[in-house]
Amino acid sequence: MINLDSRLKQCAEFVSNNGCAVDVGTDHAYLASYLILSGKCKRVVACDLRKSPLENAKRHICDEGLEDRIQTVLSDGLDNISSDGVTDIIIAGMGGELIAEIISKTEWIKKQKVNLILQPMTKAHDLRKYLFQNGFSIKCEKAVKSEKFIYSVINAEYSDNYKNHEDYEIYSGGLDFQRELDREYLQIQSERLINAGKGMLKSEKKSANIIREGNEKIRLGKIISDKLNNVGKD
Ligand SMILES: C[S@@+](CC[C@H](N)C(=O)[O-])C[C@H]1O[C@@H](n2cnc3c(N)ncnc32)[C@H](O)[C@@H]1O
Repeated sequence: MINLDSRLKQCAEFVSNNGCAVDVGTDHAYLASYLILSGKCKRVVACDLRKSPLENAKRHICDEGLEDRIQTVLSDGLDNISSDGVTDIIIAGMGGELIAEIISKTEWIKKQKVNLILQPMTKAHDLRKYLFQNGFSIKCEKAVKSEKFIYSVINAEYSDNYKNHEDYEIYSGGLDFQRELDREYLQIQSERLINAGKGMLKSEKKSANIIREGNEKIRLGKIISDKLNNVGKD
């Protein structure tokens, strides 16, 4: 059995049992193969935008003898993927903005209430903002450590719920202020926001907009920091 890193392992944990999953940007198809070999999925569609990763995926799938249960498709996002029977979609290892763009182009994700597993490498806040503003709910979110980096894995679903979110929540999403790794991730978010804000306020040619944006970043960073410090004190 393939030994997945903690990032992809957490993605696999969020996949529903006995489903049919699409792994978007599959690259090596490690996750796709794991989902079949572990018995989690009956069928997986492994797709990628580029031919060369898809060739790697095909080779790996062949080596594992999984050609009858993993279909490979050359596709930009989900453009060439049939929605038939799809229960789960995993989009991992890409930027948050690209993940949001792929979801926004795929209307059947909403109709079928597909279980989404999203793992942004950058700009996770842009992805959360997209989800909040477009009727998706974050069911669960967990921080994971892989090598020396810490990432977030988001489990979401369309719920037609356009509830107002607090501004700081696009940086904290569904993370748990009490869970150790989530706290580490949130601490980094808070420090980044405060430092970015201070940097903006220090710049010599700053417009009113930059001052407003700098102050807002500091405010949000402090809210997250206060929430971290106040755990267990309420
Ligand atoms: C860094 S790899 C991530 C591989 C794997 N999902 C993981 O998380 O380890 C990103 C993969 O996404 C693919 N990719 C980038 N943009 C894509 C798009 N619009 N649609 C499908 N695949 C895409 C790339 O070709 C590449 O193989």
